[in-house]
Amino acid sequence: MAVSRGQKQIFDFAELVTLQGAAAKDGRRVQEKDLSVISQARMLVVGGEIVWLGRQKNFKASLLKPFGGAKAFRQHSFKDSCALPGFVECHSHLVFAGSRQQEFEERNRGVSYEQIAQKGGGILSTVRATRRASTQELLSLAQDRAQRFLRQGVTVLEVKSGYGLSRAAEIKMLEVAQKIRGPEIVPTFLGAHARPPEFSSADEYIQYLMDKVLPLIHKKGLARRIDIFWDKGYFHSPAAKSFLLQAQKMGFEICGHVDQLHSLGGVRELLELRSLSLDHVVQLSDPDLTRLARSSSTAVLLPGADFYLRMKYPPARRLIDEGARVALATDFNPGSCPTQDLSLIGVLARLEMKMTLPEVLTAYTYGGAAALGLQSRRGSLEPGKSADFVLLKGGWQDLFYSVGHHPVTEVWLAGRKKSFAF
Ligand code: NIG
Ligand code: FE
Repeated sequence: MAVSRGQKQIFDFAELVTLQGAAAKDGRRVQEKDLSVISQARMLVVGGEIVWLGRQKNFKASLLKPFGGAKAFRQHSFKDSCALPGFVECHSHLVFAGSRQQEFEERNRGVSYEQIAQKGGGILSTVRATRRASTQELLSLAQDRAQRFLRQGVTVLEVKSGYGLSRAAEIKMLEVAQKIRGPEIVPTFLGAHARPPEFSSADEYIQYLMDKVLPLIHKKGLARRIDIFWDKGYFHSPAAKSFLLQAQKMGFEICGHVDQLHSLGGVRELLELRSLSLDHVVQLSDPDLTRLARSSSTAVLLPGADFYLRMKYPPARRLIDEGARVALATDFNPGSCPTQDLSLIGVLARLEMKMTLPEVLTAYTYGGAAALGLQSRRGSLEPGKSADFVLLKGGWQDLFYSVGHHPVTEVWLAGRKKSFAF
């Protein structure tokens, strides 16, 4: 959705939460002052990119001269609104068919997520439904879900494959992801999500992914990122590591579901590959926690999954205090986290993981952008970055307080107002 290069805009806000301080600290050890809030703020945007921002009283008309002067600019006055960077939802399984509500009931009777998977349910049950669905059916489901994220203020949305588990079905999922409109979509290939029944061993399936699927995804340009479920009963062998290495050599970026159910050395393996993010990290050992905190990778925390699976939460406080950069996301999927509600995720982060509100805001913006390798363009509002912002009724302090309350009134992506039906 390119903006005509020349579009020039002036935005005035009662309050602008820029997160410049948080970005300067690369999203680590963030305090309230790092939200870098400007009151009576003005922001100049040219061709979807921020060229200046500051207090209205510090604005000088001469700033407009290089862009053709005041007449070239369209003025937008949001004098009663607070603006902040758009949310980056950096971990979602948005494309799927079917429902797993009967598993919710089973888990509630005490059957575990792993036991359900061993009986052929879980991920494989969604695989069966997703394989059966047509591209059009999947797209219509995914498009509605993307709108649901957009209207909560999500401007960048990561979308994983992983419910196809065959070349044709994985490609179908990624082609659907490519067609979703609304937020900026970042597609991720998660062929290594579970072993499909056609293969008798995980390594045999990994070999198939390497030989037959990865090259085609590369050739078609359907994803730049590779994800893997590194866990017991899923993938954790030397062959899995070779798969990631080969993907990296081909130019893919790496990320992984790691230490969700068990700690199987995935943290070290993925850090060695300079994985952009390590996601879940619930079962972290002390040395792995320190390694992750000191690394360049982002720890993506998914408390919605821990809530629904009634598991323990990741050690957010210790990660942050040891200097980790963290992101928050829903992990939206039909099994471990069937909600898209950002307000629930933020409240769980605050209540169950003891994150402060400025930490939650940073994790859902700059942290998410860094998890996707996009922090040079997104995740904070400053010159040189994309004008991705949301307007709020009330102040930023109202966010992530009341579950189900969504105070976002407008969503702008690269200087363009997005429309959505409430
Ligand atoms: O992130 N852990 C692996 N994948 C998903 C769950 C997918 C599913 O249950 O369908 C997760 O929790
Ligand atoms: Fe996930």
